[in-house]
Amino acid sequence: MVASGRGSNLKSLLNALEGHPTAQVAVVIGHSAGVGALGIARSHLVPTVVIAESNDLKAWLATLGAFKIDLVVLAGYLKLVPPEVVEAYRGRIINIHPALLPKHGGRGMYGDRVHRAVLDARDTISGATVHLVTEDYDQGSTLGQATVPVLTDDTPESLAKRVLGVEHRLLPQAVLHAAREGHPVPFEFMENGP
Ligand code: GRF
Repeated sequence: MVASGRGSNLKSLLNALEGHPTAQVAVVIGHSAGVGALGIARSHLVPTVVIAESNDLKAWLATLGAFKIDLVVLAGYLKLVPPEVVEAYRGRIINIHPALLPKHGGRGMYGDRVHRAVLDARDTISGATVHLVTEDYDQGSTLGQATVPVLTDDTPESLAKRVLGVEHRLLPQAVLHAAREGHPVPFEFMENGP
């Protein structure tokens, strides 16, 4: 798992994988030791690695190799993964985005900006997308999406909260499907899944 933020998706993933026979979070990578997700990892006794320079190719490959990583999960990682890492792990890196791609994605579209764009566009439905990671922001093929309604009195904050709730169910489903198939696959989001 790779994260720059508070790590709520990490928490939901750790819960969903508890007791799983094969899938586990082997290491959490962040850009600084203060990243919330790294604190969550430490409290769950999951190893952490700080890669301060996002383009530090040697650090990426050494870390992913040392932990024998099969699947790289980005959740709130704000930098681009080096193209050489994308190439080496092509089809095995996924990201979660807090909107229904291909709308409201791309460089600079993160956090409240995404939800503000949804409200500005007067969309009536938003949600979250899990997609494969390529060399460009939010461009890889979509694997699964979960929707939430946009309410007339929503603010970026209230919409973000509703979307985050569904992210916590969508991302574990993506990972569990990948674990079952041996690699990330397109899947149907199940409301009552993990
Ligand atoms: C989530 O909204 C995710 O979709 C986006 O960044 C946020 C990360 O939240 N890419 P958290 O750190 O998992 O709480």
